[in-house]
Amino acid sequence: MADETARIEVILKRFPQIKRNALIPLLQAVQDEFGYISEEAISRIGAHLSLPTSKIYGLATFYNQFSFTPRGFYHVVLCNGTSCHMSGSGELLSELAKLLEIKDGETTRDGLFSLEVQSCIGACGQSPVMAVNCEYHSRISVKEVREIIKQYREDADR
Ligand code: FES
Repeated sequence: MADETARIEVILKRFPQIKRNALIPLLQAVQDEFGYISEEAISRIGAHLSLPTSKIYGLATFYNQFSFTPRGFYHVVLCNGTSCHMSGSGELLSELAKLLEIKDGETTRDGLFSLEVQSCIGACGQSPVMAVNCEYHSRISVKEVREIIKQYREDADR
């Protein structure tokens, strides 16, 4: 916690102007640093900008780039943009939800995996596409999704 507090304070010092239009860049900076935005960060940002935390949550939830739960050790991004959707990403999402027992935006209890669905991750020609910690898996089938997740689980056990 102390470490988190200190790191948040370093970020806040980068935005000394204390203007409300610093809110989005501040949230972005916190997310870049921690991978998500904690209650502690929301509270400190609120104090820094003299904004109620409810207002910060309200604005931050409007932008779906912000996450309020810690990401897993493996962050799985499944594309469900038009091209990937046409190529079967819906089935992949069902399989991932079943395998990981989480939904979009959630993290497994053991913290190993988190799941995020995005609308396009820029590899439409290789759809359907899934990325795990920025490692792309292209033209994947349901069977391959099972194998990929199994492989990451095995790697984590080593
Ligand atoms: S639609 Fe999936 S990568 Fe673009």
